[in-house]
Amino acid sequence: MEFDKKARKIANEILKHREILVVTHIDADGISAGAIAYESLKRAGIETSIKFVKQLGDKEIEELKDKNTFIWFTDLGSGQIDKLTDLDFVITDHHIPIAKHEMQLNPNDFGLDGSFELSGAGTTFMVASKLKSERRTIFDFTDVNLDLINLAIVGAVGDLQDSAECMLKGKNRDIVKKAEKNNFLKVVRDLRFFGKQTRPIAKMLEYNIEPYLPGISGNEKGCVRFLSSLSIDPWKRWIELSFEEKKKIVSELVRLCMEFGMPYKNILRIVGECYILLDKPEGTEMRDAMEFSTLLNATARYGEEEIGLRVCLGDENAFKRARSLLQNHRKNLSEGLRLVEELGIEELKNIQFFHAQDEIPDTIVGIIAGMSFHKGNFDKPIVAFAKSENGVKVSARATQRLIERGVNLAEAIRKAAEKVGGSGGGHKIAAGATIPEGKEIEFLNFLDEIVGEQLENRKI
Ligand code: C5P
Ligand code: C5P
Ligand code: ZN
Repeated sequence: MEFDKKARKIANEILKHREILVVTHIDADGISAGAIAYESLKRAGIETSIKFVKQLGDKEIEELKDKNTFIWFTDLGSGQIDKLTDLDFVITDHHIPIAKHEMQLNPNDFGLDGSFELSGAGTTFMVASKLKSERRTIFDFTDVNLDLINLAIVGAVGDLQDSAECMLKGKNRDIVKKAEKNNFLKVVRDLRFFGKQTRPIAKMLEYNIEPYLPGISGNEKGCVRFLSSLSIDPWKRWIELSFEEKKKIVSELVRLCMEFGMPYKNILRIVGECYILLDKPEGTEMRDAMEFSTLLNATARYGEEEIGLRVCLGDENAFKRARSLLQNHRKNLSEGLRLVEELGIEELKNIQFFHAQDEIPDTIVGIIAGMSFHKGNFDKPIVAFAKSENGVKVSARATQRLIERGVNLAEAIRKAAEKVGGSGGGHKIAAGATIPEGKEIEFLNFLDEIVGEQLENRKI
């Protein structure tokens, strides 16, 4: 069955219910997906509530069973579908599904790659856009809830779905086109650094670590010197610069990268597609999909999911609160990176790892793992551990090159976790698990072996 037809089928199922609980993930994609589901249900006149979870483990599933209500799982569920048997539900998710299901919409079931061709929010939007209680005629297939489309972009960017090609691809592309056509979105080719709307350029350059630029990344004085040498005010924001000034900076950055001997392919990654949300005020975090998704990550990952949800739905007060949470999130990220530097990253044959114990919250250790490649080895998947309330949280990240060489972290992490009495899953490029405390070394050895086999198999 084609994708849209299945989306319509799921929308029709949803419309049969008068009360629905949305269950979603605590990251930017999960919040965006949850907000789309929540708002579209309300608009359809369905009584709705929302629950955010770190993961859908046995404990969470048992709690849901007790609620005895119809559930819409967004941005999760596909990896646990075998455990949901006693529940009444629909799923809109993009994680690798472990089984097919009549009420599951997942891009992976349609020959798409859910790690970059459609996000949890995008999949959810596809159903929300079909969620209308009445058709004017039987041929009336016009979509609804179009104004929620930008949340599908924010979710995809939050999951780094644009990172491999520096642009959104696959079904994400259709969403981009539709959002552009309806004047919700502007796509620009620009510097793919974080903070173009809100940070002084000196700070934007200082905090950027991909690509890592010696003398600039992590070096405020170096950034100020660099910008002053180009006669550009370091304390202006990127959006305040003229085209000529921007061009001057980009050319100079490219020149520096060449001087450092960076591969051409990596240099090209400095510039790419950036997504401007035209329905949001200029100069705020909500204007740029990359900044918006980080703002969301600063909420629900710290237990402030209500704020994340309300920011998505345009609440001014929630936005103010989210900005203050963002300060805290940034501080945690930079302290986390400093900790990784202190601890060092240990290498095994095929993987590398660090153990943050209880020094990094389990909800952001994955983000820090992904940001730590440049401190370790780009040729091995990075695995991070952090203590969590029900054991040890594992977060693993790979690179596009490793995927091309055969690595599939979702599978490797799931298998290794199961061998030590834990569970996990995710995407080829990013996966996570929870394992019992004390099993870390055993887990690493299994994982090292499995990743080794994945690399070996691809060689043949
Ligand atoms: O649960 P979910 O699918 O939302 O999370 C996907 C995760 O994959 C995100 O944390 C995102 O940062 C990570 N990712 C990554 N590198 C990519 C693509 C995704 O680290 N190239
Ligand atoms: O938590 P983290 O950002 O490392 O998660 C990376 C990916 O692994 C996400 O897509 C997440 O949904 C998935 N994951 C999972 N099972 C877990 C933990 C994470 O499927 N127990
Ligand atoms: Zn997601």
